[in-house]
Amino acid sequence: MKVVTIDGPAASGKSSVSRELASRLGWSWVSTGAFYRGLAFVAQRTGTAVDDEKALVDLAVSDVWSVEKDPENTKVVFQGADVTEHIYKEEVGAAASKLSSLAGVRKSLLEAQRDMAKSDEWLIAEGRDCGTVVFPEAPLKVYLTARSEARAQRRASEQGASLEETQKAQAERDRQDATRKAAPMQVPESAHVIDTSTLSLEQVVDEVQKLAETSIGSI
Ligand code: DC
Repeated sequence: MKVVTIDGPAASGKSSVSRELASRLGWSWVSTGAFYRGLAFVAQRTGTAVDDEKALVDLAVSDVWSVEKDPENTKVVFQGADVTEHIYKEEVGAAASKLSSLAGVRKSLLEAQRDMAKSDEWLIAEGRDCGTVVFPEAPLKVYLTARSEARAQRRASEQGASLEETQKAQAERDRQDATRKAAPMQVPESAHVIDTSTLSLEQVVDEVQKLAETSIGSI
C-alpha cells in the first residue's frame, strides 16, 4: 500500500505538512477532514441536522457532492460548484466534528476515503483516524501534535480570528474528537510522534521526509 498517514489534533499542521511534502516528492495528498467538513457544509445547505444520522448517511453517499484531491487544498464540489472556500471555516469544522462522532456517518464515508489511494502513485492521507482505521496497513504513520496555544495561534492568524475564541473552539473540537466512541483520535501503534510547537513548517517536513526515505526506501 503506497500510503503515508498523518494524524493529529486540529491545527497541528497536518495539511501544511502534507501539501509541502507532496509537492517535494511529487506525490498526491488528501485531507480526510474535507469529507466531514464537506458533509457538514452540504447538511447545512440542505437543512439536515448534524445529529440526524439516517439523513446524514443518505447525504454522505449521495452524488450531489464529491471530494477531489488537489495539490493546494482538498476540494469539495456541491451541485457542480466548487465550495472549497466555505468548508475550511472554524464553524464548519465544529459541525464536522459533531457529525463525525456518528458511527454510521464514518462508515458511509470510508469507501470514498479509501478510493483516494486507488492509483499507482503515493498518497499522503491526513486526518484523525487515517493510521488506525482508514489505512491501517500504511507503511509509515506519523502523528503531529503541538501545544494548544501554538495551534490556536496558527489558526487565529490564518483566519484573522480572536486567539482566545479559537483556542476555546479547538479545545472543544479536540475533546469531542478524542472522546467519541467511533474511531476516536488517537496515536496509531507504530506511529512516529512529532511535536511541532517550536518547529518551522520546513523543519517538520524535513523530518517526515527523512522518515519516508528511511522507512519506504526508494522514493
Ligand atoms: O482535520 P480537520 O480539522 O479538517 O477535521 C474536521 C473535523 O472532521 C474534525 O474535527 C473531526 C473530523 N475528522 C474525523 O473525524 N476523522 C478524520 N479522519 C478527519 C476529520
